[in-house]
Amino acid sequence: MVSKIKRLRRCQLAVPGSSEKMLAKAAAMDVDHVFLDLEDAVAPNAKVPARALIVTALNSLDFGHSVRCVRINDLDSHYAYEDIIAVVEGAGANLDTILVPKVRSACDVRFVDRLLTQIETKLGLPHRIGIEVLIEEAEAIMRVEEIAGASPRLEALIFGMGDYSASQGIDPRAISADSGYPGDIWHYARYKMIIAARTFGLDPVDGPFVSFKDSDWYETECVRAKQLGAVGKWAIHPSQIAIAQKVFSPTQDEVDRAYRAVAAYRDAQAQGLGAIQVDGQMVDVATVRLVQRTIDQAELAGIRPSEGI
Ligand code: COA
Ligand code: MG
Repeated sequence: MVSKIKRLRRCQLAVPGSSEKMLAKAAAMDVDHVFLDLEDAVAPNAKVPARALIVTALNSLDFGHSVRCVRINDLDSHYAYEDIIAVVEGAGANLDTILVPKVRSACDVRFVDRLLTQIETKLGLPHRIGIEVLIEEAEAIMRVEEIAGASPRLEALIFGMGDYSASQGIDPRAISADSGYPGDIWHYARYKMIIAARTFGLDPVDGPFVSFKDSDWYETECVRAKQLGAVGKWAIHPSQIAIAQKVFSPTQDEVDRAYRAVAAYRDAQAQGLGAIQVDGQMVDVATVRLVQRTIDQAELAGIRPSEGI
């Protein structure tokens, strides 16, 4: 497995690229990642002017620690290639990643990769722009392993449950907490995408939750995604940011336990022991591997172990 550039993606905030006001508000928010949207949040007659608004926002606003991403239109539209050229030529130095919606195959990713390479070479950009892709077509679920391995620029796979449901023909009435469907209607797709992402060292991210006034249900969806291995979830409204960033952060207790387990295991190994007891639980190589992920997440999020650990 090739290790990828590590960025915090506990929450990715969707920001309509046609709204100067929301672009400015997003820049000031304490959020891990923002994606400035040219696709679904932007009406067709606003798509071309939105490119210039996004370029100006990237070049003039301070986005602080947030990852700066732009979602282009899908590759079947006539907007996509000019979205990439306009945004990267206009603001490539202030752009971290491009998000590609509705990918269907590895070829889609390679198309974006090659175009980025040409623009970067022409501009002499000092950094490589990453690619994130939305897995939201039935075809993309069938080919998710091929897509996940398509380019060294790939950093994240995002499960887009709205478009995915339309693509699969899921009954819209099944998408509610009390639909009567026994379980999570998207379980298989989420699970499969997360396995593919982890196999290729990519960040698996869960997509949007549109009933933004229902914080409890949003939190439940964050927890479900986290339990399967996702690193974060989209927010469409500022009120969702703090919830996602809390759920996808390890708690101080989890961090402390992880550091204690690793330290105790290191000492035990030096004494020739392969399995020990820490905090009432058995710790061996597999447990250490599991808690190492907690330590990695904590380091990325800047959470230190408590004093004395
Ligand atoms: N990014 C930045 N600022 C946002 C925001 C976002 N995604 N969503 C809302 N805000 C701002 C609003 O402009 C408003 O600012 P104000 O208090 O200065 O007027 C404030 O946060 C509160 O917003 P609120 O009044 O509760 O909601 P709204 O009616 O203005 O907007 C939506 C609701 C759903 C239209 C809006 O949240 C939105 O456009 N979300 C993103 C949609 C999107 O990108 N979809 C595609 C990806 S799934
Ligand atoms: Mg979509």
